[in-house]
Amino acid sequence: MNQIGRARPPGAPNRHPQRKKLPHERPLWLRPEGEIFFVTVCCEPRGKNQLCYSNIARAIFDSVEFRNQNAIWYAHLACLMPDHLHALISFPYERSMKQIMSDWKRFLATRLKIEWQRDFFDHRLRKEESCREKADYIRANPVRAGLIAPSEEWPYFWLADSQKENANREYGVLCPGSPGGRALPLLLALAFLFAACRPDMENQPKAKPLSESDFFSNQANARPLPPHTVERGGARENAAFYTGLTNGTYITQIPVQLTPELLARGQERFNAICAECHDRTGSGNGMVIQRGFPQPPSFHLDRLRNAPIGHFFDVITKGYGVMYPYATRVEPEDRWAIAAYIRALQLSHDIKASELTPDEQRKLGNKQ
Ligand code: HEC
Repeated sequence: MNQIGRARPPGAPNRHPQRKKLPHERPLWLRPEGEIFFVTVCCEPRGKNQLCYSNIARAIFDSVEFRNQNAIWYAHLACLMPDHLHALISFPYERSMKQIMSDWKRFLATRLKIEWQRDFFDHRLRKEESCREKADYIRANPVRAGLIAPSEEWPYFWLADSQKENANREYGVLCPGSPGGRALPLLLALAFLFAACRPDMENQPKAKPLSESDFFSNQANARPLPPHTVERGGARENAAFYTGLTNGTYITQIPVQLTPELLARGQERFNAICAECHDRTGSGNGMVIQRGFPQPPSFHLDRLRNAPIGHFFDVITKGYGVMYPYATRVEPEDRWAIAAYIRALQLSHDIKASELTPDEQRKLGNKQ
């Protein structure tokens, strides 16, 4: 019975291999939980053959093997397509996968003049089964792409030694003579195909994030968010906090707790972001203004002294006249801190001598 409906290559076993697991003799330095990543790297431009030349393939596979031997990663298999490649790779603990991948891409780019797209796609496999599924998928790629017939062998396919040995042991009887002989890759292909051929729910059709789609018009399986979608907890229900308004009117009390820390944060932010124009006292004479930017009003005008605190929050959020908005640069929490600090600045400039403590009055008297 040929469940997969593909031609049986000459020399292939005529019954199903009784095979439960894909062999994994994994080096000891890999994580025990054995994470395997399905990695895809694309060339630039798409559609141009850069990888499927025998000298290029040999150099790429050498570099894969080199990395296996030097414990940089552990690649289980790799498959070159004309303008992209797939691989199943496990990464060691110490270094970031991103770094290892970009080092490799850079090496191949300089050495073989391969032009890559930026980044790469990766997908962590969770179960053995899905490893087999992926191996099958990768293996069948050239067939799906119409590059070879199902019975043909794809020359740009690489398998880690331990996997070859395993496969060899299992098929020892069927595969006498040279282990690297022509029949072996075919047998391995079969091993992958049969291993993946399980009619249960694991094999249901599904679209993985970031994969290509032949269904959606933009060819991406990742769907855009419907309008008005917010992330969990991101609904910004507290209108006063996020706008400085309730029912269209500016609030007069800050909606966060006023603490010395808040004021200190406000001072630090104000001096860093606003003072170049408004100056540190808020009189509107900062260095940018001295260099010719339109002058802002002093914060110590009665109009701004009497303005509700929500107004200051709103000006930072949306800008005001020629002053541009700071919403992208100042988080709401910091906007309140700055607004509170502006209020403190205003109070510090607007107090009657009689309101000072006797001690402060004495100090003032000394100065005059
Ligand atoms: C690049 C210069 C510049 C920076 C930086 C700047 N502002 Fe302004 N700001 C102005 C100018 C100019 C105006 C007057 C705008 C107008 O009336 O057209 C103004 C006006 C204001 C007003 C008065 C609004 C009113 O009702 O008249 C407030 C309050 C204010 N800015 C707060 C801030 C705060 C807080 C920051 C820092 C987060 C800040 N500004 C950063 C230039 C600046």
